[in-house]
Amino acid sequence: MSVLFSEGRLGGLALDNRVVVSPMCQYSAVDGVAQDWHLVHLGGLMMSGAGLVILEATAVEAVGRGTHGCLGLYDDAQEAALTRLVAALRKLSPAKIGLQLTHCGRKAATRTIPERWRGEPLPAEEGAWTPVAPSPIAYDEGWQVPDELDEAGIQRIIDAFADSARRAARAGFDLPELHGAHGYLIHNFLSPITNRRTDRWGGSAENRNRFAVEIVRAVRASWPSDRALGFRMNSTDWTPEGSTLDDAVDLARALEAEGLDYVVMSSGNVRPGIAIPPATPGHQVPFARAIKDQTGLAAMAVGMIVEARQAEEIVSSGAADFVALARPMLDNPRWALHAAAELGADIPYPPPYLRARPNNWLGFRHVHPSANPPASTLQLDRPRSVASWDRPDVGAAKDR
Ligand SMILES: Cc1cc2nc3c(=O)[nH]c(=O)nc-3n(C[C@H](O)[C@H](O)[C@H](O)COP(=O)(O)O)c2cc1C
Repeated sequence: MSVLFSEGRLGGLALDNRVVVSPMCQYSAVDGVAQDWHLVHLGGLMMSGAGLVILEATAVEAVGRGTHGCLGLYDDAQEAALTRLVAALRKLSPAKIGLQLTHCGRKAATRTIPERWRGEPLPAEEGAWTPVAPSPIAYDEGWQVPDELDEAGIQRIIDAFADSARRAARAGFDLPELHGAHGYLIHNFLSPITNRRTDRWGGSAENRNRFAVEIVRAVRASWPSDRALGFRMNSTDWTPEGSTLDDAVDLARALEAEGLDYVVMSSGNVRPGIAIPPATPGHQVPFARAIKDQTGLAAMAVGMIVEARQAEEIVSSGAADFVALARPMLDNPRWALHAAAELGADIPYPPPYLRARPNNWLGFRHVHPSANPPASTLQLDRPRSVASWDRPDVGAAKDR
């Protein structure tokens, strides 16, 4: 029996399986407001078979947006659009829906990735704004020097995370995931490379962790206790000058004490020029295992998890509780439906697509020769509509 396709829990939230769609910026928002693109893109991912779909990094204030195209959740128009989006997505599948809350810190105000792969600073004539950070150190040559946050600025951003979480709760999301990695603001505070402060927000690990701890505390207080709360963790800066896995475990323990439910273990991007080992399949899984072994938090692994059997091995071996996938889901938005067929697990299928279900369509075995779909016991005598998605007994066997 597949562990990947067994039920999982994130705090009070029950998930149908352990496959998660990782947050992916789309650079397609207007003034932070979700557009039709988001419905189409996320609608496809809702029908991936994953148990949880997490929306892209969503800024908690305007200054914290990465680009002009990033989602925001700090005004009423943004909240209204996300409320409509969540309601529409709920009709497509029983997958749970999260969103990632972020502040981009010194990496704010960049051009979008489609214009250039890794982004580049936004020129003044394209409406650049001044980023903020714990210390006035530019990300790279040619990037803006961020304004150093003062006590009031730090408190404003902690409050902004809590406000956005309240908006997310009203919009109907099942969880917020707080972005503490990839060189963005929370990570800027955590890492000694980007945090050179000498006040209570810098210096010792406890002081550098304080910003993350206070944000989790504020969000937990404004987020319904029966819904889950997650954190994307920087596992290592990949240099002895920076944060290490031991630092990440210590922070995870501190956040667990504040009521966090899970961490997803990512790494890197604190500054350019650090040699990172080439990404190999499952390269960040050992980080998730460290959290599982040393804390009581649920651990999500992410990064180069590409195949069904690899994902099954990660969760069945106990290395992680969940796997999060990004590019494999863009490559194949039916990834989890196909993975279930590969692993012989019977999971609900989008009713209007039942004619293509692996056990209803002989062609599937030609396209996916290693798949092992469960034998069908499905009947075609019930109405097929999206409303019957959660009825695995509704289906068709007649096309064999
Ligand atoms: C198009 C794209 C956008 C991404 N945007 C985000 C994001 O908004 N927040 C985040 O934490 N990670 C983001 N990531 C990183 C992914 O969530 C994931 O951690 C990374 O791609 C490794 O997983 P993969 O090998 O399955 O792609 C993005 C990745 C891609 C490909």
